[in-house]
Amino acid sequence: MAVIDEINEVRTRALADIESAQGTDALDTVRVDVLGKSGALTHYLRSMGSIPAGDRAIVGKTLNSVRDEVETALQHKHDALASAELDQSMAQGAVDITLPGRAQQVGTRHLISGIIDEITDIFRGIGYSVASGTEVETDYYNFEALNTPPDHPARGMQDTFYVVDQTGEHSSVRGESDVLLRTQTSGVQAHTMEDQKPPIYIVAPGKVYRRDVADPSHLPQFNQIEGLVVDKGITFGDLRGTLDYVCKQIFGEDRETRFRPHYFPFTEPSAEVDVSCGICHGKGCRFCKGTGWVEVLGCGMVDPNVFGYADIDPEVYSGFAFGMGAERIACLKYNVPDLRMLLAGDMRFLRQF
Ligand code: DAH
Repeated sequence: MAVIDEINEVRTRALADIESAQGTDALDTVRVDVLGKSGALTHYLRSMGSIPAGDRAIVGKTLNSVRDEVETALQHKHDALASAELDQSMAQGAVDITLPGRAQQVGTRHLISGIIDEITDIFRGIGYSVASGTEVETDYYNFEALNTPPDHPARGMQDTFYVVDQTGEHSSVRGESDVLLRTQTSGVQAHTMEDQKPPIYIVAPGKVYRRDVADPSHLPQFNQIEGLVVDKGITFGDLRGTLDYVCKQIFGEDRETRFRPHYFPFTEPSAEVDVSCGICHGKGCRFCKGTGWVEVLGCGMVDPNVFGYADIDPEVYSGFAFGMGAERIACLKYNVPDLRMLLAGDMRFLRQF
């Protein structure tokens, strides 16, 4: 019967095409060509109606068995091709599980934050509390209430960033006090004495700003730690004992301190404190410029004029104050020759601390 021969031809071609298909995409094309809507076999399945009734049973049986056979062949071939393709893609995108991974770097506290925490903790340990101020401050608190009026020559010691308005004029509070970026944390002293009654034992860490170009010993922005004590009967001996203790805590028990007379507008008398050089231990070397000492902070007895601004009676109370640069102390403690290294973000440097 001619139609049975034709169906068998379709079968032979289909099985050969399935056998030679190179990939699942090619196999899919074969499937559509044979069993799709207008596929070769579908054509016969659809035209059963035009087959003479006597032949229908045998043609139908043949068609069904050919369809089953083609579908089975398609399924087997598909399984084989898909698994080969999977093997191939696994081989191409292979992950070498023996390759050592890239370790994630774990962040730590920065050296500067570390030294600030360390120093405030030392003071906490001897009963001080921690105060804070704002980085944008008024001229009044940064200078005037600290016995430094506008024409005072000490203003030249700290070149100031002023906050200006759109016309370039200095911004001011109620037209009275210029607004600036604080040049020192000493303003926290003035705020604290205004806000609370003695006894006062505080330290105040914070950022300060100066119109300086960064060099090995200057930064335009750095951190200070301010200290203030106001109580009855406070003497220079208390100041000395406290700061000697703190320096030994920071740098080591074997370090000596010395107090040199100095000038600050808000303390009288004033002093600068040196510690014995950590490199040569007082013999004199390049680090301490041959002196055997390195300067670490400024301090003094609170000037009675400063008490006057805060309405504290200098006949009843006395006090001392001090201020130190956190970056400077970090450099001295760890023998870092240049302040800028603290800010460079070089992991090889920072990881050491
Ligand atoms: N404010 C001073 C400065 O920035 C440091 C200082 C010196 C603070 C003496 C003090 C002090 O409280 O008593 O140079």
